[in-house]
Amino acid sequence: MSTIHIPVLSKEAIEALIETGGKTYIDCTIGTGGHSLELLSQTPENVCVIGIEKDEQSLKIAKDRLMTFGKRIKFLKGGYEEIDRLIKPLDPGPVAGILFDLGMSSFQLDSPERGFSFRGEGPLDMRFDRSQDLTAKELLFTSTQEQLLDLLKKFGEEKWSRRLSRVIVERRDKKPFETTVELSDFIRKNIPRRAAHKTLSRVFQALRITVNNELENLKSGLVKAFNLLEINGRIVVIGYHSLEDTITKNFFRVLKKAEIALVINPRCARPSKAERMKNRRSRSARLRVIKKIRKISDEDARKKIEDSEFEKDWGEEEND
Ligand SMILES: C[S@@+](CC[C@H](N)C(=O)[O-])C[C@H]1O[C@@H](n2cnc3c(N)ncnc32)[C@H](O)[C@@H]1O
Repeated sequence: MSTIHIPVLSKEAIEALIETGGKTYIDCTIGTGGHSLELLSQTPENVCVIGIEKDEQSLKIAKDRLMTFGKRIKFLKGGYEEIDRLIKPLDPGPVAGILFDLGMSSFQLDSPERGFSFRGEGPLDMRFDRSQDLTAKELLFTSTQEQLLDLLKKFGEEKWSRRLSRVIVERRDKKPFETTVELSDFIRKNIPRRAAHKTLSRVFQALRITVNNELENLKSGLVKAFNLLEINGRIVVIGYHSLEDTITKNFFRVLKKAEIALVINPRCARPSKAERMKNRRSRSARLRVIKKIRKISDEDARKKIEDSEFEKDWGEEEND
């Protein structure tokens, strides 16, 4: 049974955005519309939001929920990595704030037919954009053992990566994995019982990140978003695992060092105990805010992010 997503760190995100006092905001991951609903509710009539989303199903829910805001909200189907191209026809003028709420929503996680969760039975899909060719099933079927090892290590930080990549390839050469349950049962049989939950979370995270090219998209999205911002405009990023938070943190750090931006909350915001109790999915969230103080060219920004380094400092996101 699918659920509507509860927006994470909503108060902190909306406060950080509206402090700019601007008129135009972009919600790069509108999902089922939770953050945008708050943003529109807390701002005057002359404030507009542009919502971007890859997932048609989520976008439809957001449209229905936000219908009452009329012309104040516009929807764009697509990836934030193409934010510049997507928003061009709308010609929105200066943008005061851009929100990235990364990863998947509870709505997607709790829809077994989307294949994001190892709990429900569904096809091994995991695509945010269902018009894309690559699915998790295809990825598992076509990757070499080395490629699988690499993605499990890099995107899952999984200690059983070597063993799992070998046994998965041996098994799929005889019979491809079709469903989430087939894959998770197989993994459970090949690792110690006590490691099962964490390992399954990490493997599913690694497959999803790869299927959706999430980290590369985040890098492009941040660079392009920064270029769209007006001076004093802000980017707010909510990340759920170390890989995406590290990209954000490093990007912000290099812009700060180049005196192009100010980091508003260097220590990042975390959900309160009350929020964590109310919404399990918020537990690993970290929110970071940057304020633009000078312009930078696309090429300069890309170079800066390419130069920044990955660091590991906290664990995988929750898949339950
Ligand atoms: C955590 S959810 C956002 C939830 C939303 N803030 C809300 O309150 O309902 C992340 C969303 O980002 C979408 N998404 C992931 N990668 C994307 C991309 N590159 N471009 C646009 N949307 C993306 C996912 O489909 C998902 O709906």
